Amino acid sequence: MIGELDPRAAGARRLKDKICVVTGAGQGIGRATARRFGAEGAKVIVADRVATGAVETVRQLEAAGVEAAMILADLGKYAEAQRLIRETVAAWGRIDVLANIVGGTIWWQPYANYSEEQINRELERSLFPTLWCCSAALPVMVEQKAGAIVNVSSAIVRRGLYRTPYAVAKGGVEALTRSLADEYGRHGIRVNCVAPGGTDTPDRVTSRLTLAPGVVGEPAPGMDEYFRETRDDYKRLALARRSQVAEQAAAIAFLASDDASFITGQTVRCDGGT
Ligand SMILES: NC(=O)c1ccc[n+]([C@@H]2O[C@H](COP(=O)([O-])OP(=O)(O)OC[C@H]3O[C@@H](n4cnc5c(N)ncnc54)[C@H](O)[C@@H]3O)[C@@H](O)[C@H]2O)c1
Repeated sequence: MIGELDPRAAGARRLKDKICVVTGAGQGIGRATARRFGAEGAKVIVADRVATGAVETVRQLEAAGVEAAMILADLGKYAEAQRLIRETVAAWGRIDVLANIVGGTIWWQPYANYSEEQINRELERSLFPTLWCCSAALPVMVEQKAGAIVNVSSAIVRRGLYRTPYAVAKGGVEALTRSLADEYGRHGIRVNCVAPGGTDTPDRVTSRLTLAPGVVGEPAPGMDEYFRETRDDYKRLALARRSQVAEQAAAIAFLASDDASFITGQTVRCDGGT
């Protein structure tokens, strides 16, 4: 049953028949977004670079009667983002919504401990997929004179320890959101962003240390300790708890839908109140 994909949708069909590309949809917030979009009537393109998670997301969507397809792509690469959009348009004719969800810090450590290679990897994970996918999708949306892009940032942009390259990448995502909203609003395209706080991802099977399918990087020295120091940060929040993935998906679905038709250039802080 479609309603079981995400009970929070409560029967809403705001994305009925919309062609929605969700990147990083193989697990976590990306999968929850694909499920919420599906529950709201979307046709969902599940984009990820790891097949196992993406196959499972498509299975869940199809089991509920949602039309879905999988495109495997390493979205840290410009050409792969171009291919994702090209294949989507070839198969589905248009793109109504692009939800850029690939990202996530790989390492935890003080900034000066990051190597050049690690800093590049963090930007490749958390900035470039969104840059590349927007660049590829915008010409399609301009041609359509319509489209909604929802990017995903992080509460880390405001504060948090040991993830500076990730914070910089997400700051870039927020700047990109503002800038593209200004440039493309006149073409009927809205660009918004959701900045999640710490969110539980019980279905995560692909570790953040995965640098390419089947290639797992080394943890940074002392990383477990640095991680532990930040683990209880949520206790300082107004809501004093971590988020569930469906709470992030709900904010993303709102911005993707016509309910947000006069909202653009915004970053919604879905962070429990910093
Ligand atoms: N989970 C949190 O606590 C949290 C908090 C704040 C922000 N966020 C943001 O939310 C988003 C999702 O987070 P999550 O915890 O669900 O992530 P996750 O690490 O659990 O899942 C990310 C997915 O993206 C895929 N992926 C990674 N690199 C890719 C690439 N180059 N090309 C294609 N696919 C790729 C992975 O295979 C995986 O399926 C990220 O942008 C993250 O920065 C998460």
